[in-house]
Amino acid sequence: MHSEHYTATAKWLHWVMAAIWLGAWLLGFCAAHWHAINSDHQVTFVHKALASSVLFLVVLRVAWRLTHSAPALPASMSPLMRKAAHYGHLLLYAVALIALPVSGWLWSSAGNHEVWVLGLLKLPPLVAPAESTQHLAGLFHTYVAWLCGALVGGHILVALKHHFVDRDGVLRGMLPR
Ligand code: HEM
Ligand code: HEM
Repeated sequence: MHSEHYTATAKWLHWVMAAIWLGAWLLGFCAAHWHAINSDHQVTFVHKALASSVLFLVVLRVAWRLTHSAPALPASMSPLMRKAAHYGHLLLYAVALIALPVSGWLWSSAGNHEVWVLGLLKLPPLVAPAESTQHLAGLFHTYVAWLCGALVGGHILVALKHHFVDRDGVLRGMLPR
């Protein structure tokens, strides 16, 4: 039986960031589409305050991951599935945890809007305000947010499949001992 675990720190980072990420996604969606509750951009403010913390947490997470290897995958997984898991995780880091928050930061900067990390710390603007950049970054952020919604949805489904169908301990490796 496969019984290897991620380090406790990796588990904390994964689950805290997963909660922040999913909450930020829902808030972003509500900010953009539920105008009745976002009349003064208060939902947008909270979306940006929460989501921008990912920019900092991902630095810690990548540093930790580069110095601490992940548990081995179960022997029952085919070489193709191992490759898929590896590149899938790489894609989550690059797109969901880096490109998406950076594009949100770029979008706000180009639109001359402030980003307050957790409502406490103001991010410096990434670029000078410019309408064309604002438009492009907005399109990018919106499409990539939806792409990531699908990516993360797939990630969760695969984790559940490992647990309930393959019963191979992959999910347990990310859960508290
Ligand atoms: C520095 C970080 C980020 C900033 C500054 C930012 C900024 C924004 C802004 C200004 C909007 C438009 C809201 C409105 O129309 O009032 C938005 C929408 C959105 N954001 Fe972010 N964002 C950031 C990170 C993220 C992250 C990490 C996620 C995913 C978890 C995300 C998911 C979304 C989604 C789903 C939408 C709605 C897209 C749509 O359907 O129109 N954002 N974001
Ligand atoms: C209920 C939600 C979630 C579940 C059940 C879940 C489950 C898991 C599991 C079991 C692993 C370990 C896979 C392995 O051993 O190879 C993992 C890894 C990972 N998860 Fe999640 N996850 C969830 C949400 C998220 C979210 C929202 C994100 C980010 C947007 C995310 C990003 C990652 C990344 C990047 C890894 C790779 C870790 C590494 O090896 O460095 N997860 N997840």
